[in-house]
Order: sequence, then C-alpha cells, then structure tokens
Amino acid sequence: MGRGVILELKNLHTEVEQKEILKGVNLQLKRGRIYALMGPNGAGKSSLAYTIMGHPRFKVSRGEIIFNGENITNLTPSERAQRGIFLAFQYPIEISGITLFNFLRLIFNTRVDDRKSPMEFSKFLKSKLEVLDLNEKFISRYLNEGLSGGEKKKSEVLQMVIVNPELVILDEIDSGLDIDAMKIVSNTINNFFNEDKTILIITHYQRFLDYVKPDNIFVMFDGKILASGGYELIDLIEREGYETLEKRREHDEI
Ligand SMILES: Nc1ncnc2c1ncn2[C@@H]1O[C@H](COP(=O)(O)OP(=O)(O)OP(=O)(O)O)[C@@H](O)[C@H]1O
Ligand SMILES: [Mg+2]
Repeated sequence: MGRGVILELKNLHTEVEQKEILKGVNLQLKRGRIYALMGPNGAGKSSLAYTIMGHPRFKVSRGEIIFNGENITNLTPSERAQRGIFLAFQYPIEISGITLFNFLRLIFNTRVDDRKSPMEFSKFLKSKLEVLDLNEKFISRYLNEGLSGGEKKKSEVLQMVIVNPELVILDEIDSGLDIDAMKIVSNTINNFFNEDKTILIITHYQRFLDYVKPDNIFVMFDGKILASGGYELIDLIEREGYETLEKRREHDEI
C-alpha cells in the first residue's frame, strides 16, 4: 500500500455545547508510521480522538477529516470503524449484559470478511489472550465490568488486535499499567504494527514512548497543534513545561 497519507485533518474546529474545543487543527498522518500526541490536561487530545471517531458530542463547526482520500467528516462512528479506524478509550465504558467474548465476535464480524465459526473464533481468540497474558475467564465477563484499570486497558488492546484496523488511536493506553503490563501492551502494539498501519498514541509519559518508539511527536495546546518534531520535543517539555513552550512559540523562538 505504500507510504501515503492515511489521515488528514484540515483546519478542524469542534464544539461541545457551544464551547470551542478544537481551534483549527491541521494534521497529517502517514501509513507505516507511529505518532505520539502529547499536551497538558484539557488541551483537547481526547476530544481530537473522539472527533476523528465521530462521537456525536463533538460537533465539527469548520474543517474536514479525510481518511484514505475520502471525506469522512459526516460519517457515523460505525461507518468510520468499518473503514478501519479504531479508538481505544482513555476511560473504557462498562456494559453489563454483554460478555467480552460476544462483543469481540460482534466487532470481528462487522469488520473482517473472514467469517469464523464460534469454535474457530474461540481458538483464534485464545491465541490472542495468551499474548496479552490474559486468563481465559476474562472473556466470559461482562464488558469491562469490575475490571481493574490495567485489565480494562488490556481489553482495549485485545479489541484492537481482533478488529485489525488500519488507523489506531490509543488514548492513554499506558495509564494505570504496571511495568510488566506496560511491556506486554507495548510488545502487542509493536507486533501489531506494520507498513500498512498507522498508530497515534496519546500519552503523558516518555516511558511508554521508550517502548513503542514513535517516528514523530505532536504537542497539542489549547485546541491546536503547537509543535511537531522528534524526541527533542520531549526533552524540551520535561525541561520547560508546556506553558513556556507555548510562550516561546508565540515569540517565534521555536
Ligand atoms: N462533554 C463535555 N462538556 C464540556 N466540556 C468538555 C466536554 N468534553 C470535553 N470538554 C472540555 O474540552 C477540553 C478538552 O478536554 P479533553 O478531554 O479533550 O482534554 P485532554 O487533552 O484529553 O486532557 P487529559 O490529558 O486530561 O486527558 C476540556 O476543557 C474539557 O473540559
Ligand atoms: Mg484525555
């Protein structure tokens, strides 16, 4: 498929209850790359993720979202999912009454053409569970109900592996993971990644990025992309903090 642009955000503005959250985001993501998105609390990172996924709460007031050359700005979340976009939530929701197993079968069947019988699907799933060091009992529990923070994050990663999307947005997938879980999750992400995929990792911590090694880092501040670059940006943030970065940007020092 090559290294073309997979996602393009053009002057994207969104509102939540008449409050402007994204204030003109321009962003280009390419196939075969891993990106990190950093920024202070409330900068709009999760809002950006939700907007790409098409959450109805986030109204696009200006701008466009282009995925694989198609304008998807007005598509529903499930239409976007079918096209190959996946979001792992910062705060996964709990749904009582649907088991993780049934949920995974459902999302597998809507996205992947390769139909599997329940037996075949069980076998396929078992191999994925092992990779994530998850107990088989895990999948007979209701979706995220009563799971620990780290288990919820693993459940999100499991969904990613099952759905096999082209564009993955991982919103603070590292938060709440112990060090062993962080290694398992980052290994799973690295094994999943290939030349045809694109991963956007939203995180506050350099530690996770040491494991997944993004090609490019974006910094978001107050609803806009403030800077884009390599690891030197992380050092700069650690040394100076986001506010200083923003002020220097205003004065054209970076
Ligand atoms: N449903 C909502 N109603 C009102 N304001 C909202 C809503 N959702 C998000 N916001 C506001 O949008 C802004 C951006 O929030 P967002 O969750 O995108 O930040 P973030 O960069 O992900 O922060 P964090 O690092 O803390 O996760 C915040 O000021 C937040 O209060
Ligand atoms: Mg967030």
